[in-house]
Amino acid sequence: MKLGLRDKAAIVTGGSRGIGRSIALGLAAEGCRVAICARGVEPLRETEAELRALGVDALGVQADVGEAADVERLVAETVSRFGRLDILVNNAGTRSREDTDDVWDATYQSNLLAAARTTRAAVPHMRATGYGSIVHIASIYGRESGGPVSYNAIKAAMISHAKAMALELAPDIRVNSVAPGSTAFPGGSWGRRLEEDPEGMRRFVEANIPMGRFGKPEEIANAVVFLCSERASWITGACLNVDGGQSRSNI
Ligand SMILES: NC(=O)c1ccc[n+]([C@@H]2O[C@H](COP(=O)([O-])OP(=O)(O)OC[C@H]3O[C@@H](n4cnc5c(N)ncnc54)[C@H](OP(=O)(O)O)[C@@H]3O)[C@@H](O)[C@H]2O)c1
Repeated sequence: MKLGLRDKAAIVTGGSRGIGRSIALGLAAEGCRVAICARGVEPLRETEAELRALGVDALGVQADVGEAADVERLVAETVSRFGRLDILVNNAGTRSREDTDDVWDATYQSNLLAAARTTRAAVPHMRATGYGSIVHIASIYGRESGGPVSYNAIKAAMISHAKAMALELAPDIRVNSVAPGSTAFPGGSWGRRLEEDPEGMRRFVEANIPMGRFGKPEEIANAVVFLCSERASWITGACLNVDGGQSRSNI
């Protein structure tokens, strides 16, 4: 299947590691130029080099998506470098189990407000380009109950924001969300728990994930790359579970 992504230009927030890195690499493997952002510089530069090694132009921008000025600069630098913007993946986001105002603020700003701001900044450039696909990375715990309370509520709001923007921006720009289940990689939260407590994680998988294993970041990326592509031309306002059967919701 030809995805039609060659020479398009994308932004993946939080693209330096984990799921965001795999999404950026997946887009680059299809010939798409990719800008990534993160707060930490070293992994950002390493992933930028990996993207270039795939033969596409790549840009790493140190930016905190919780800061309005950083979001503006990320979009401006991307358009200045690539001359266009076709794709935005709102992947960055933090979570914590504590139920404090600080955690609510940080979770809201790095997930929901960041996605809303980045979308707002990207839309005029997508309209100018004549192509637009936006994907929010939510969670199965935005579709149903589970996870830390602030994360649960804010991921649900991200799915709602993607749906609302899909209606607002149709027919020019498509907006969807992807809801990953538990996805493990070295250095990620599940990867760390796998190292610290392999037996506990074996029991967790047995009880919760019908496919019998954690997801891999590339498996989330495959779904996101498809939604970004021309092959998903009639999909907008959807939320796609990628979770090995982990979620229990019928919808
Ligand atoms: N892994 C899972 O099991 C899972 C399941 C469901 C949903 N998700 C969602 O999938 C997304 C990615 O998860 P992940 O597990 O790959 O996360 P991760 O390992 O924590 O990576 C997050 C990425 O986002 C960047 N980031 C975090 N806060 C940022 C900020 N304020 N501004 C800019 N960049 C920021 C990080 O770099 P810096 O720290 O250097 O900024 C990193 O590149 C998140 O939205 C998460 O909620 C993950």
